[in-house]
Amino acid sequence: MADEVEVIRGLRGVYFDTTSASFVDGEQGRLIYRGYNIHDLAENSSAEETFYLLMYGQLPTTAQLEEFDKKLKGSREIPEEVISVIRLVQNAHPMDVLRTAISALAGTDPSSDISDMSVEGSREKGIRLTAQAPTIVAYHHRIRQGLDPVVPNSNLGHAANFLYMLTGTEPTANESGLMDTDFVLHAEHGANASAFAARVAAGTQADVHAAITSAIATLKGPSHGGAAEEVMKMAIEIGEESAAEKYVSDVLGSGGRIMGFGHRVYKAEDPRARHLRARCQKLGEERGDPKWFRILSRVAEAMEPYKARGIHVNVDFWAGSIYHLLGLPEDIFVSIFALGRIPGWTLQVTEQLSNNILIRPLLKYEGPEDVEYVPIHQR
Ligand code: ACO
Repeated sequence: MADEVEVIRGLRGVYFDTTSASFVDGEQGRLIYRGYNIHDLAENSSAEETFYLLMYGQLPTTAQLEEFDKKLKGSREIPEEVISVIRLVQNAHPMDVLRTAISALAGTDPSSDISDMSVEGSREKGIRLTAQAPTIVAYHHRIRQGLDPVVPNSNLGHAANFLYMLTGTEPTANESGLMDTDFVLHAEHGANASAFAARVAAGTQADVHAAITSAIATLKGPSHGGAAEEVMKMAIEIGEESAAEKYVSDVLGSGGRIMGFGHRVYKAEDPRARHLRARCQKLGEERGDPKWFRILSRVAEAMEPYKARGIHVNVDFWAGSIYHLLGLPEDIFVSIFALGRIPGWTLQVTEQLSNNILIRPLLKYEGPEDVEYVPIHQR
């Protein structure tokens, strides 16, 4: 083997295709969905409108948005068979339950047949999964507490209905607005690990359910979607704002990492973080519980010197405390991330399918060669 072969570990900095889905500008700290700046979408759009923009490539007209909303609302129910699967695995981590239930949905989807690999058919499956996944997460959360599932409410929008199915109580406009913005901010992010996993599956012509199951499996890890859960655990462990600085120096001093900081692409501040920071502060004050915002702000201050090394706060840093203030348990934080990202994964899959190629890189072999095979009784 030629020694001069260049190995790019972790595919860092490698472009493997082109896209019109999103632009993650790591140097400038910009995020663009289909040409639109994330700040404009976070301030002005809704989850439904942003999902439409991502999946269809343009902002909808009023009639198109109504039609899309109707389609989402009409697809929220999940079949009894899948509810039985949720009951069977109810003691698992919510991400494992979501992954398993999405996989099970492949067996009940009207067109999950491998032969329907058209872009349009795949997008329709992605829309159904976008609508069904919140029901899975909410039903599981109720079932594991011994409570009856709360059936979807078609009077409520995507974000409000999710909170309603979790608690059985209609959320306030502020609560549903927070969840809505969170879904907008998490909807798409280029070739991150989970989207790459989805594309690898689609590259083999596996169907949308297979690709999204792969993506959910990949999102689970603490280096990716699991960070929000870890951030909240960190805030609880720190306990009070005066202890934040010492906590950070102890973790970094022992070679550890502060969760919610750093990003493979962003070497400036993650543009999504500021929207959640402001909302975290406001929600904490409204709830009379500003402690978490204060603790996390002190952690961020202690991490200031790391900005010079390109380590900035990322989207997960503030997301966890918002979910906590909304009364949601830490172990569903990463599932909430997944619910927001299904439209983005769908788009990544349809884009891959529209100009498909098998994604198959190489590993440079560094093991021995020409080892003599010795039969088992002679070893
Ligand atoms: N805290 C302290 N140091 C850090 C952190 C952090 N959170 N992140 C990176 N570094 C340091 C590393 O120790 C390393 O230092 P070294 O060069 O002295 O060894 C350097 O920065 C580069 O780190 P890499 O791991 O090579 O960077 P990579 O691009 O592979 O990692 C990652 C990105 C995995 C996100 C990393 O920053 C991390 O582990 N962050 C914490 C987990 C987290 O917040 N994940 C969420 C990511 S955003 C998302 O998925 C939505």
